[in-house]
Amino acid sequence: MMRQAGRYMAEYRKLREKHSMLELCKTPELATEVTLQPLAHGFDAAILFADILLPLEPMGAPFEFAKGEGPVVHDPIQSRGQIDRLRVIDAEDGLGYVLAAIRMIKKELKIPLIGFAGAPFTLASYLVEGGKSPNFAKTKKLMFGAPDDFRALMEKLAEVVRRYLRAQIAAGADAVQLFDSWVGDLSPADYVEHVQPHVRHILSDVAKTGVPVLHFGVGTATLLEEMREAGGTVIGVDWCTPLDRAWKAIGYDRAVQGNMDPCALLSTREVAVRHAQRVLDAAGGRAGHVFNLGHGILPETPVDNVKAVVAHVHEASAR
Ligand code: CP3
Repeated sequence: MMRQAGRYMAEYRKLREKHSMLELCKTPELATEVTLQPLAHGFDAAILFADILLPLEPMGAPFEFAKGEGPVVHDPIQSRGQIDRLRVIDAEDGLGYVLAAIRMIKKELKIPLIGFAGAPFTLASYLVEGGKSPNFAKTKKLMFGAPDDFRALMEKLAEVVRRYLRAQIAAGADAVQLFDSWVGDLSPADYVEHVQPHVRHILSDVAKTGVPVLHFGVGTATLLEEMREAGGTVIGVDWCTPLDRAWKAIGYDRAVQGNMDPCALLSTREVAVRHAQRVLDAAGGRAGHVFNLGHGILPETPVDNVKAVVAHVHEASAR
């Protein structure tokens, strides 16, 4: 259970009273502490504490996490000139604090560490919209109306992300996840034309390291095959697509990750465990299922329900 996971834990909220989100990310000792916090619940792997937006600042597009608003990019992209001025950085220049955190975490961790980055479309959507958007209208206006400019933006982001994931692996990440969280808003044809080549640029190169790659998006029922074609050892599935149906579409030569509805954790343990079992039933005991939520855990999730689900998955899937 990952992706903004920290917020459901009191220990995390306590640290946040003293430090901003970006301070936590930029201080390896603190990022290490937050990465280790959820492990008391019995997870099989840890996810690095960072955020997909961190590369934007050294690329030349500073942002903040505004209270109640989510991420805000200060100077959203509106012109080709701004795209041309974005810097294609190396991870060591500007994201060295993430790599330092990985090295520090690896010294303490006995289970695998999952690194991650945002995929180019999802990052471009924040850069162009200036934050979260209900319909990605500005991003798609650029994509459809000025495809050369959009491609230039995607190429820069893809190269930064490729280098960043490589650097995370070199620093010790045991697996990496590529979050294309908002790509489900695109039709398959537009995904293939405007997104897939850039994701392939990243994943075909990262695959050479031999480290497993998890490729995830939300609302991707109609894109699973195209995402598989773009790459990934494991394809992440949101909770709206039954896992058995998704796996058939993806192909049994790939692993799948998912896909319990995060809201099923909000009421009682019984409800939570029943939903977890439904996911296990859909996976049918087949090798290559990574149990997870279908998207990020919600801040109001009771910790006891998380523990109950982890214990149930371990017990029910023990071989
Ligand atoms: O589980 C973890 O804590 C791992 C670290 C992690 C964070 N963000 C920390 C975070 C990971 C893997 C992410 C990924 C991320 N960030 C994604 C992709 C995953 C997904 O949800 O689809 C996206 C789209 C983002 C961008 C982002 N960062 C959003 C939309 C927000 C929420 C803003 C809000 O206030 O609702 C963030 C902030 C963020 N990232 C928090 C954490 C722990 C919350 C910060 C806080 O207030 O303490």
